[in-house]
Amino acid sequence: MSRIVVTGGAGRLGRSLVAGLAERGHEVVSFDRAPAENLQVAHVSLDLTDAAATAHALTDAQADAVIHLAAIAVPFSAPEDVILRTNAALAMSVLGGAVQAGIPKIVAASSPTVIGYGAPTGWTPDRLPLDEVSPTLPWNAYALSKLLIEQSIAMLQRQTGDAVRFAAFRPCYVIAPEEWGGAPTQQGHTVRERLDDPALSAPALFNYVDARDVATFADTLLAALGDIPSGEVFFVGADDALAREPLADLLPRFHPGTAAAAAELTGTTPAFSNAKARALLGWTPAHDWRTELAAADDRSDVHA
Ligand SMILES: NC(=O)c1ccc[n+]([C@@H]2O[C@H](COP(=O)([O-])OP(=O)(O)OC[C@H]3O[C@@H](n4cnc5c(N)ncnc54)[C@H](O)[C@@H]3O)[C@@H](O)[C@H]2O)c1
Repeated sequence: MSRIVVTGGAGRLGRSLVAGLAERGHEVVSFDRAPAENLQVAHVSLDLTDAAATAHALTDAQADAVIHLAAIAVPFSAPEDVILRTNAALAMSVLGGAVQAGIPKIVAASSPTVIGYGAPTGWTPDRLPLDEVSPTLPWNAYALSKLLIEQSIAMLQRQTGDAVRFAAFRPCYVIAPEEWGGAPTQQGHTVRERLDDPALSAPALFNYVDARDVATFADTLLAALGDIPSGEVFFVGADDALAREPLADLLPRFHPGTAAAAAELTGTTPAFSNAKARALLGWTPAHDWRTELAAADDRSDVHA
C-alpha cells in the first residue's frame, strides 16, 4: 500500500482514479480547488497554482507518490494564454513542489494532442498507429501545455537524477463508468452519439480509454516505477478504436493526408498503440466499448 496524492482528484478522470487506487488498497489524498463531492478519500481544497501553498500541502501529505491531473483539460475551453499560463503554472507548482517535498514517485497526465493531429495547416503522419516515438507537433495552447508538462518532468529529472522516479502518460478520450449507460462524455455527447456520428470522435482520431483502465495503469506504473527507466512517456488507450468502421476507411475521410498511413489500421485497430505500456509494464486494458455498451443494454433491460 502507498500513500498517493492525486491532483485534480475531483475531476472527471480524477474521481475514477481516486476510487480505483483506493479499491486497490492505497491511501489516496485528493488535491483540488473544487469541493470533493462524494469522494470516499481525504481531500485538500487548494489552488494549486499557488506554489508555496502547494509545496506546503505536499510536504504535509507525506506521500509516496503524486499523480498530477489538475489542469484546464479541454482545448479552447479558455483563452489560449490562460490555458498555457494555468497548465504551466500547475505543472511547475505541483511537480516542483513534489520534488521539494521529497516525494519519490512523480507522475503527470499529458495528452495525445501533443502529436498535433487536426492542425489547420494539415497533418500527415509517417506511419500509424501512433506510438511514443511519433513526432510531437502541438498546434494549440492545450497541446503545447501538455508537451511542457512532459518537458518539465525531463527538466526535473536532470536536477534529481534517479533519486526521484518520474513518468508521464497520455490518456486517450476518457470514458467514466457511468458514461457507458448514457451520461454525457467530456465533449457533452454520449458514447453512442460518438459512435453513430463519426464526425464527433474524428477530432480525437477515434481514441478512448475506460477510466477504470487508467486506474489499473496508474497502479501498475507506480509499482513498476523503480524498475523501469525514469521519465518514460506512455499512451494509455483501449485495444480498439471508438468506431463502427475500420479507421483505414474513416480516418482519411476526416483527416486529409492520412490515407497512406491509415491503410495499416484494418479491423478494429486503433490509431494509438498501447504496446509500450503492455511491453514495459505488463498492463492491458480490461474494457472495450462493445462489451460495455452490451452490458449497459442488459442493465437497462433488467430495469425496464
Ligand atoms: N478526460 C480526458 O479525456 C483526458 C484525455 C487526455 C488527457 N487528460 C488529462 O487528464 C487530466 C484530468 O482530466 P479530466 O478530464 O479529469 O479534467 P477535469 O476538468 O474533469 O478535472 C480537472 C480538475 O483539475 C482541477 N483544477 C484545475 N485547476 C486547478 C487549480 N488551479 N487548483 C486546483 N485544482 C485545479 C479542477 O477543479 C478539476 O477538478 C488533465 O490533465 C487532462 O489534460 C484528460
